Amino acid sequence: MNKILVIGACGQIGVELTLALRKKNGNDVVIAADIKNEHPLLQGTGPYVTLDATDADATRVLVKKEGITEIYLLAALLSATGEKNPKLAWELNMSSLRQILDLAVEEKNIKIFWPSSIAVFGPTTPKDGTPQKTIIEPSTMYGITKYAGELLCQYYHQRFGVDVRSVRYPGLISWKSLPGGGTTDYAVEIFHEALKNKTYSCFLSENTYLPMMYMDDAIRATIEIMYAPAEKIRSRMAYNISAMSFSPKEITEVIKKQIPDFTISYQPDHRQQIADGWPKSIDDTAARTEWGWKPEYDLEKMTIEMLKNLK
Ligand code: SER
Repeated sequence: MNKILVIGACGQIGVELTLALRKKNGNDVVIAADIKNEHPLLQGTGPYVTLDATDADATRVLVKKEGITEIYLLAALLSATGEKNPKLAWELNMSSLRQILDLAVEEKNIKIFWPSSIAVFGPTTPKDGTPQKTIIEPSTMYGITKYAGELLCQYYHQRFGVDVRSVRYPGLISWKSLPGGGTTDYAVEIFHEALKNKTYSCFLSENTYLPMMYMDDAIRATIEIMYAPAEKIRSRMAYNISAMSFSPKEITEVIKKQIPDFTISYQPDHRQQIADGWPKSIDDTAARTEWGWKPEYDLEKMTIEMLKNLK
């Protein structure tokens, strides 16, 4: 029987992934862990423990005691917060990954999911239809930790046979739990403000195109790559996955179809520079052909879902 641990279970991805894994595998076999208080949506749905992802001893004790066989390590500092505290971003993002990989070597039967990001790409990367393998020179500490992490995953797989799997998430759009500290967060905030105040002041400029994905697709990608037969996962660096690409101006037009008096203004801040270094769109042919990835939500469909659920 699989015994699953989700570290960072109260974050934007963690809440929905924990609920999806509980639905798939049973509530009691999925342990949610986070340094924060239990998220209200997780309460009463299964076991919860308080855990600092950088505490190697506490993590080891928990994994051994519970006989964990599958770990989703989601705890991380994202791009914008990472620039405010680069040292902490390095420490949290790298030490949490390293200790989980070491545990997998020790325990032998632990499968790991660790998310990478479009933030691995930098200003020197081709911006349109960014390929799986290309120039990778990230310019944020977050991107540096993600790229270093990908290399570490590949190394632990080749050297020790650790079954670690990863995708490069685009900006993720969700209504159940809020994002925190990312550059793509505007694409979630805009829906909250459109419903509450009918106006939004955007921290990116109107024509900033970024790759994005609805959370349902991201959760499905995560579960599909984790449960795909090992021989289909030919790359142990992270896979590009793609669903849609839009600018603040384009998403505004789509929201206006449902809220005609919605208005937007633009006040780009320090996050503009981060966004300018990232791709506009992503080529995910490898994920599609190797393990069958296919998105279900485009901009129109995602907007309808977001407005309906947030209402
Ligand atoms: N959503 C993330 C960020 O903006 C990208 O992985 O930092």
